[in-house]
Amino acid sequence: MSNTAYREHSTPLFLTSSFIYESAEQAEQMFAGAGEGDIYSRFTNPNTTELIQKFCVLEETENGVATSSGMAAIFSTLSTLLNQGDHIVACSSLFGNTLYILNQILPKWGINCTFVAPLDRDGWQQAITSNTKMVLVESPTNPSLEIIDLPWLADLCHQNNAIFCVDNCFATPILQKPVDFDTDLVIHSATKWIDGQGRVLGGLVLGSDELIQPIFDFLRRTGACLSPFNAWLLSKSTETLQVRMHQHCTNALQLAQWLESQEGIKRVRYPFLPSHPQHDLARQLMKMGGGIVTIDIDSDKEGTFRFINALTIPSITANLGDSRTIVTHPSTTTHSKLSPEEQEEGDIFDSTIRISVGLENIEDLQEDIEQALKRSL
Ligand SMILES: Cc1ncc(COP(=O)(O)O)c(C=O)c1O
Repeated sequence: MSNTAYREHSTPLFLTSSFIYESAEQAEQMFAGAGEGDIYSRFTNPNTTELIQKFCVLEETENGVATSSGMAAIFSTLSTLLNQGDHIVACSSLFGNTLYILNQILPKWGINCTFVAPLDRDGWQQAITSNTKMVLVESPTNPSLEIIDLPWLADLCHQNNAIFCVDNCFATPILQKPVDFDTDLVIHSATKWIDGQGRVLGGLVLGSDELIQPIFDFLRRTGACLSPFNAWLLSKSTETLQVRMHQHCTNALQLAQWLESQEGIKRVRYPFLPSHPQHDLARQLMKMGGGIVTIDIDSDKEGTFRFINALTIPSITANLGDSRTIVTHPSTTTHSKLSPEEQEEGDIFDSTIRISVGLENIEDLQEDIEQALKRSL
């Protein structure tokens, strides 16, 4: 359906900071909350509204907000829903900047966090108590691709009246719908698979009206809103999310299976490989295995770097979820702020490489990896 009198097929870009009124009376009514429509793009804008509506359908939630980045989604959720003295329990395998918020910012406001390793059931049971306000996890985890038992953890959260919040960035709603497992809030870094071409930053928080409304109020006042341009672009990308994810996952599975038989590779981690320790759980929670394959080169740091530098198709960058394959060396980049002990606990070594599998011809990629592996020996 077209948005304007021009009968356009593709949604136009509403690049406007504010919206006009027919009269002073209408402006008064709108500000009093009596009228329908947009007032100012920090609050709402047709492009952000369209993106949010699409994700409410995809994640099957009542409401949502769009934010300037994935980190803004996480920060606004935590700042809105947690109060001084509250306790949060989080997975120890979280994106580094999320750990920074939990370790460095929230304690300044008297909000303390207990960390639990992804698969430590006793640890989760001990950490989550009736004082716990929120539980925050990512699944699959980055870069180890461990699978958190979301239905089991959701049950534990609800026995303790804690809000269960899942960062669904690695899976996207195409592969995993956290609300199917009784999750309260779903967070996305739209920068990754949702954009899919590494162009813009964006974030989303999705959930019930009751939880989203205060986050919306926080955002409209503090300003970490998504720009109309980025919303327009992400909304367009959403139209191809399903076919892209299908192809990323098909390529990733094929690559993971092939890598398992290659000389020079010590370990391949991919949720849909039978060798993955939570393979059955992954198949229960996810439709396909995702676009990330994590490998360990059978060499030291120098050999691993020789392999990375010899690749000609993948880009060396810290992003993921792009149509072009990306390799990342977590221990010296995305996870370099972790101590050696923390890295080892997170199953990250000098030999670990995260591959975000793109949409290239998989045989070209295999050929490139094969020649680069010879350099690592
Ligand atoms: C799982 C996860 N959550 C959140 C973020 C933060 O997203 P953004 O870079 O869009 O702020 C990232 C990565 O950057 C991520 O990998």
